[in-house]
Amino acid sequence: MSLQSELFPLVSSAIEAALGPEHAGADPVLRPSQFADIQVNAALALAKRVGKPPREVAAQIVEHLPTDGVFGQVEISGPGFINLTLADGWINDRVSAMAADDRHGVPVQPAQQIPIDYSAPNVAKEMHVGHLRTTVVGDALARTLEHLGHHVVRQNHIGDWGTPFGMLIEHLLAVGEDSDEARLLESDPNAFYQGARARFDSDEEFATRSRTRVVSLQAGDADTLRLWTELVELSKRYFNRIYGALGVTLTDADLAGESTYNDELAAICDELEAAGIATMSDGALCVFLDGYTGREGKPVPLIIRKSDGGYGYGTTDLATVRHRVEHLGADRILYVVGAPQSLHLNMVWATARKAGWLPESVEVVHVQIGNVLGPDRKILRTRSGAPLRLMALLDESVATARAVIDEARPDLPEETRAVIAPQIGIGAVKYADLSVAHDSEYVFDLGRMTSLTGNTGPYLQYAAARVRSIFRAADAGPEQSRTSQIVVSEAAERALALELIEFGEVVAQVGESLEPHRLCGYLFQLAQSFSAFYEHCPVLKAADPAVRQSRLALCALTLDVLVTGLDLLGIESPEVM
Ligand code: ARG
Repeated sequence: MSLQSELFPLVSSAIEAALGPEHAGADPVLRPSQFADIQVNAALALAKRVGKPPREVAAQIVEHLPTDGVFGQVEISGPGFINLTLADGWINDRVSAMAADDRHGVPVQPAQQIPIDYSAPNVAKEMHVGHLRTTVVGDALARTLEHLGHHVVRQNHIGDWGTPFGMLIEHLLAVGEDSDEARLLESDPNAFYQGARARFDSDEEFATRSRTRVVSLQAGDADTLRLWTELVELSKRYFNRIYGALGVTLTDADLAGESTYNDELAAICDELEAAGIATMSDGALCVFLDGYTGREGKPVPLIIRKSDGGYGYGTTDLATVRHRVEHLGADRILYVVGAPQSLHLNMVWATARKAGWLPESVEVVHVQIGNVLGPDRKILRTRSGAPLRLMALLDESVATARAVIDEARPDLPEETRAVIAPQIGIGAVKYADLSVAHDSEYVFDLGRMTSLTGNTGPYLQYAAARVRSIFRAADAGPEQSRTSQIVVSEAAERALALELIEFGEVVAQVGESLEPHRLCGYLFQLAQSFSAFYEHCPVLKAADPAVRQSRLALCALTLDVLVTGLDLLGIESPEVM
């Protein structure tokens, strides 16, 4: 439910009744207004079509607006705008119904099957801030779409195959499977990778063994596969430590790494070649697509089999599309992947459409992830210039949050502060990733994102905790207040109620546009409206018990919307702050 969606049909019918059936379904052009709750702007455009002055057309529309308690005040202003002020009773009914509904106005949509490709770190490599962002954004989308009633299938396309694995396996053998060096895969995978690399670059014999190992791996040699599995297992522990710290919903059951598709790659190439979609060029099997050209108009190929016979990233991604359509029954497929991979994905999809593996009825979307930058506006690194360790970054954020809460609430018991510091620190990192458009860059700034003021996670968590404290002071849970009738009177509580009833529509929009930052923006505005309300309208000290009840009910609904909204973003709401 939202103001727009409720009023659209009402005003549209009034236009039809006023101007005739040829205007059926006319867009009332509803816009926010400074002077009223909402403004109808349609009269200006309609005036030209019916050949009458806009103010006259506006007056005709007004005559046909419902008179049964929807609007409190209707005014024509300026050249022909219609300013609509809702009747308080209308708002009361809407917001009270929303409080009693346990979905708080969020619709249940006809279920679609939606595979979401997100996170996708690489085995034996550090997850970087880009992986962090796809993990956080993908998880928020998964939660939101699920809440809207869809069947989400999480697909964690980890990089667990390719030529470096010969070197990595040989390094694992050289250091010993039970060695401390091998354990680095769980804690500091880049250190392990660099160890392997150093050996490869300095030891000719090792390099030769590594190349032979790649061949054995591809041939399915049992011992080699066992070592490869060990490598992946150790890396999984590392991924899961990060996922655990982040509180994301990914589990081992969602892993569908590159290696999953090995057995399909030969057939994919054969089919594309047989269909004439792929052709040999300089020894490699390539797909050339209309409209994909590089410098000087030279066609850019999607290479699906290299001249050495190996398959590439594109071949595996063709397999992901086919699998998701054929076996996962996808209606809509999301790839939450870094923006620079856009060309790659578009070529893969165009090829899949040509091959008939991706029917037009299936929508596929690249949810582009923008870069996370350091203060120097370059890719985020440590102060020493080394690539960042994600676990260290999360630890630092929790420590910063701890300092913030120590300063703000020294009165809270030590155990409580220990519980809420990770909630705040992790919430801050996630919110920073979510609150800007997913495809824009932003500068990672721990100080700003853990701040208790501004458009931050901690500010919203604090807003929710503050509502909880009202119920603690009232010595009552919010539950009792959910069935109370809400009656707005003061301007600030009316504004809060109008903000609240938008929630369902905002969540639906996030499911449609795949833009979690819209939900962040909404929650931020809601928290501000609540602040204004709390400043102007006494709740526990309200003299009239009915007013107190109504205001407590508004508080309970605000709390529910804040907590539900944060939960859809994957952010926890501390009990106290
Ligand atoms: N592992 C890749 C990387 O780290 C991301 C994979 C994204 N998903 C996909 N289906 N291509 O860049």
